[in-house]
Order: sequence, then structure tokens, then C-alpha cells
Amino acid sequence: MPFPPAFLDELVARNPIEEVVGQYVNLRRSGSNLFGLCPFHGEKTASFSVSPDKGMFYCFGCHKGGGVIHFLMEIENLSYADAVRALAQRVGMTVPEDDRYQSRYRQQERLWALTKEAARYYHAQLYAPAGAAGLAYAQKRGMTKSTLTKFGVGFAPDAWSGLVDAMRAKGYTDQELTAAGLVSEKNGRIYDRFRNRLMFPIIDVRGNLIGFGGRVMDDSTPKYLNSPETLIFNKRKNLFALNLAKKSKLGYLILVEGYMDAVSLHQYGFDCAVASLGTALTEDHATLLTRYTEEVVLLYDADEAGQDATRRAIPILERAGLRVKVLKVKDAKDPDEFLKKFGADRFQVLLEGASNRVEYQLSAIGKKYDLKEDDQRVRFVQEAADLISTLGSAVQREIYGGRAAEAAGITADAMKLEVDKAYRRRRAREKKRQERIDLAPAQALRPKDRNIRYDNMKSAMAEETLIACLMKDPALAEKTGGLTEADFSVPLLGRVFRQLMDRHKEGLELSIAVLEGLSPEETSHLAGVLQRHQGPAQEQAVADCLAVIQDQRRAAGAATEEDLLALRDRMKQRKGVKP
Ligand code: GTP
Ligand code: MN
Repeated sequence: MPFPPAFLDELVARNPIEEVVGQYVNLRRSGSNLFGLCPFHGEKTASFSVSPDKGMFYCFGCHKGGGVIHFLMEIENLSYADAVRALAQRVGMTVPEDDRYQSRYRQQERLWALTKEAARYYHAQLYAPAGAAGLAYAQKRGMTKSTLTKFGVGFAPDAWSGLVDAMRAKGYTDQELTAAGLVSEKNGRIYDRFRNRLMFPIIDVRGNLIGFGGRVMDDSTPKYLNSPETLIFNKRKNLFALNLAKKSKLGYLILVEGYMDAVSLHQYGFDCAVASLGTALTEDHATLLTRYTEEVVLLYDADEAGQDATRRAIPILERAGLRVKVLKVKDAKDPDEFLKKFGADRFQVLLEGASNRVEYQLSAIGKKYDLKEDDQRVRFVQEAADLISTLGSAVQREIYGGRAAEAAGITADAMKLEVDKAYRRRRAREKKRQERIDLAPAQALRPKDRNIRYDNMKSAMAEETLIACLMKDPALAEKTGGLTEADFSVPLLGRVFRQLMDRHKEGLELSIAVLEGLSPEETSHLAGVLQRHQGPAQEQAVADCLAVIQDQRRAAGAATEEDLLALRDRMKQRKGVKP
């Protein structure tokens, strides 16, 4: 069973959405709504709105929306139950006991605690006799005592049950050790997963210990062993050292490939470094970064793999709205080696010369072609012109156009002609797309999510308005005649209608925050619907909607009724009964 409805109503009432959102987003009032920069996608103009009276947020840019609970789920990456718990805690309410909701969070809490205990154990081993080799290795890699402490670096001794024994003694079960990914299993017996490795604890942005990366101390493989995916560890959603870097005052974040790179950067004073956890950069990573910065410096390894990864990461970061600068170390394979060879000052110089993504992409295009060959120069010019034509400002187009012209050995004017041509091609394409949208307005209103079907537009629009009216003025629930969920052409809106009616009968609130059983996409869709309908909620509007819905329903049902009549006739004839 879900949380008791009355509890949820109170929870939502005591956590005004503008207050909760205000802790994350700078909101400015404009009329009855508040606006700010959307925390869920990068943007420069505020399209993120909060309606205190509707208890709802909605972004006109990325179309995310919902109530206060949904907001917290989305921004803190929490489950529904955890978001409810967090809001309860915020205002000092006690969450009613309910096993099914509690158990997942309890289990997570247990695994966080266990992982923290394991980190303590590994860290202590670093200074124990069994960890002498680990400490020596850490020192050889140049890590200072304070770095080891700050990152909680540890050592997993070369033994089969050091961790297992220590954790059992603290009351953790074998099942919990397995769930935390700290052990492996063979023939029904568990043993330490990490052995003879230098251990880097991985901590999420909320400060929970979620996993480890363990490095061998020689050239054996695998070089790094990471925690497996668990209830608390998802490497596609977390970044190493972000728990520290999010507090940096430097104003940008440096994204590197390796644990060691991030650790070194911090040690040398660049406390804004984070590393991905041995996977390609994901959209989730990019979104996570937008919470803490607007600018990311990409600094991957100098080798081919690192540069490939750079090319793939740029569009992911840019799509999230981040400003991207790209840096490549010279005469060193990675940032860690660079710092050790040349020091922090040289690194600072490098950082200041970090090229923006246009320079980087332009030079990448340049490398693809042999500019001494005429036909290759032509292709270079075209590809460069395509890139430059995407730039928003004329000044930028002139500067980079000039550079490309120089590289190709043509005049700036000739380059400008190419850029203009590329620009016109792009505009023509975009215009055509816009026309297609304008020509089909109903199509544009159709929900993006294919699970939310709008088969009957006329009815769907009336259903939307009806729901919006009911949520604005719950008393209108009395005026809906005998309308039922089955009369709705859009299943989602039908479900919402049923819940609203049920809640009204129970005297409960009708707010988007407390509706049950909606997916995030459905919630966002509903928020968009409510946002669109700004008009007053009047009895007449409800009556009009009812008329349309019932009309459409009858039209849809007519065919089947006729079929039934025909069937009845045929059956009568067969039985020889005269009608
Ligand atoms: P050092 O070689 O000690 O300087 O470490 P590094 O952190 O610079 O590592 P490297 O550049 O070799 O690799 C970059 C990152 O990829 C590492 O930090 C890991 O996250 C990941 N990685 C490297 N090798 C492995 C491996 O064998 N298995 C897994 N799962 N991940 C790895
Ligand atoms: Mn490396």
C-alpha cells in the first residue's frame, strides 16, 4: 500500500513547492508564477516555471514537470519513497511505517553504512603491517598523507577473507556483503572481491559511500577492478570526486578519465577535477554536471582512445547546455603524468590556453585532410564551413572563418561565401521542418511519449480542459454528471479523472503532487496540460467538455452498437424467430 493519503496531503501542504525548488533554483516572480533556469537541462533564458497555486513545476524547454515530490525525485535522483522521506524530514514529520516502501530505503541505508565501514577498514589497512606494500605504492605514486586522507584511499590486503571477517564482526550478513558488491562467491562460500589492491572509495554527491575502484600495484590485469552495479552503485550516473569538486570555487569542472588523474589534480590545487568511472560519458553524467557548473574542461588521455572519447563527449556535454573547453596534455600521457613532470604552474598555463570546442573541432577537421591536395582542400573548406555556419554570432563566424581560410590557403572572402552557403542550406532545412510543424498543429500538440495516446484529438482536448478545471476548482467534481473513466479517449486522463473523483469523495486534496501510479513521463505530460490551460474553471466550461466527450464517445461507440444489432438480427434469423 502507498503512503496514507492524508499524510501525503499534509506533507505536500507543509512543503510549498516554491520553497523546495528555491533551494536549488534561483526563482524570480512574474505574475502568479515564478521563473528560473531549468535545473534539468542547460539553458540561458529562464523557461522553468513554478506555480505555487497549482503546486507544480513545469519547464517549457525540456517539458519536465510535476509536483514537489516529483521535483525532489528528479533533482536528487531519489525514488518516490525516498523523496517523501526527505520532505518529511525537512519539516519534521514522521513517516508512517509501511514495510514495502521502507524496505528499499532501509536496504540502501544498510549498504551505504556497510560500504562506509569497508572503506574505514581498507583505509586502516593502509597503515597496518598487512598494508605496507599498499602504502609504499601510494607514496611511489606521489600521494601525500593529506591526499590519502581526503580521498579515503585504502588498501585491500592480499588475503581471502580480511574484509568478510571484519564486516561479519560488525554484524553485516553475507547477503548484505554480496548486495554491496564487496565479495565474490564460489561453491556457496563468499570471499573478498578486492585483494592486493589500492582502493579508491567512490562517494556520491550526497556523501554516501557507494563503491570502490581497486588498482593493482604491478602490470597485471585487470588494472582496475570496480564495484559491480548494485542497488547503490550505478557508474553511468556517478562521477568520481564530484563530492569534493562540487564545492570548488574555481567556477568550472575538469573532466578526466582516470582516478589517478583526478586525485593528482586535487593534490596540485585543482580541486574541481572529476573522473568518469571507467565508462564512456553518459547523458546522466552531463546532466549531473550541469547542477554544479556551466563550464567543463575536457581533459582526457593523450592517446587515440582518449581523443576518440573526447570527440564523443563534446556533443553530450553541449546538448546538456554546458560550455565545453578541450585540453590535451603535451609530452605526457595523462594529466597525472603532466603534473608530476611539469608542475602546477605549467598546468595552469595549459588550462588558460584551453581551446574552445570550435577551435578543437576545426583542428580535428584539419587533421582529416591533406591540405596540400586541391580536392582535399575543397572538402576541408566545406566541412569547416558547415561547422562555422552553426555559430550564433557574426564575430565568431568571422574569426573562425578567417582561421579556416588561412589553413586552406584561400581568401577570407571566399571562405565567407562558403559559410553563407552552408548557413542558407541549414536555414532552408530548418524552415521546412518548422513548416511541417505549423501545418500540423494537432500533430504538434500530440504528446511526445508514445505511451500516452491521443487517438481522438477532439475528445482529448476536452478531457484535458476538464481535468484542468477539476484541479483548479475541486467543487466542480459535483458537476461531472455520470462521467466515468471509460468515457475518456486518453487512458492517462481517464485514470487521472478517476483518482480526482475518488479523492474528492474522500475530501482529499486534488494536486498533481499526490496522484498515484503515474510514470515520470505521464506526470510531466500532465504538468504540461495544466500549464497550458490558464483559463478560469467554470461550470460552463465543464458542461461544454462533458458534451464533447460524451458526443465523441457515442460516435466511437456507434459502430459497435450497429454491429451488435446486426449480430442479434442474424442470430434471430438462424433460429427462425420472426423479429
Ligand atoms: P594510472 O595508470 O594508475 O595512472 O591510473 P589511471 O587512473 O590514469 O587509469 P587509466 O588511464 O589506465 O584508465 C582510466 C580509467 O579507466 C581508470 O581510472 C578506470 O576508471 C578505468 N579503467 C582502467 N583500466 C581498467 C580496467 O582494467 N577495468 C576497468 N573496469 N576499468 C578500468
Ligand atoms: Mn591514465
